[in-house]
Amino acid sequence: MRIVVLTGAGISAESGLRTFRAEDGLWEDHRIEDVATPEAFIRDPALVHRFYNARRAATAQAEPNAAHRALADLAARHELTLVTQNVDDLHERGGSSNVIHMHGELASSLCASCGHRWPSPMETDRKTLCPACGTAAARPDIVWFGEMPYHMEQIWEAIQQAEIFAAIGTSGQVYPAAGFGHQARRSGAHCVELNLDRSAVSRDFHEHLIGPATQIVPEWVGRLG
Ligand code: OAD
Repeated sequence: MRIVVLTGAGISAESGLRTFRAEDGLWEDHRIEDVATPEAFIRDPALVHRFYNARRAATAQAEPNAAHRALADLAARHELTLVTQNVDDLHERGGSSNVIHMHGELASSLCASCGHRWPSPMETDRKTLCPACGTAAARPDIVWFGEMPYHMEQIWEAIQQAEIFAAIGTSGQVYPAAGFGHQARRSGAHCVELNLDRSAVSRDFHEHLIGPATQIVPEWVGRLG
């Protein structure tokens, strides 16, 4: 079967990584929106570097869980396109390859001056030099609010051809990812939502599996055979 899976922060929650909207949404008393925007980076680059350094450290401490591993098993038996909004590497460490990181990756740095990408050191700051052009213009290779997500053409194409579309652990509040279910349904896919509670775009899905990802994702993968 041709399957497209979209994952969000909820799949990594049981690995100990914070989701965006379940708690107070604050980091060091800053709203997430105040650190995850291009404007924030211009205003206070040191703060933004510190935020992503902290997230790299948290990710390094975390281990993939049963839901990440179940999706690696799914790819062994089906034609799976795995799209994630997550910037952690838990899918890869859980055995998945070719993961499409539509919101970028903590593991990558991007030069704001020449566009070069390179494997990110665990800690970056205002003085981190681009290895290609030598400018001190390193930024996290993360898609911030107001920026265009990566690989959109490839994702829309996969959605159009999908027989099954599943959204796992995502609140359905951030577009364009929140619109994938709607588009998949229009293209004829059977749409399944797997989440701790109903998302903001629940109505776009034919089926709802409610519960913790480590439980419902392996069960769902098992049922698909
Ligand atoms: P959210 O924090 O908005 O939503 C996480 C969802 O996961 C919620 O619906 C929770 O109910 C659900 N959830 C929590 N724990 C779960 C568990 N153990 N099992 C299953 N579901 C669980 O995170 P996202 O939807 O991923 O963008 O957020 C989308 C984007 O908003 C992120 O990629 C990020 C943020 O701004 C960027 O950084 C560009």
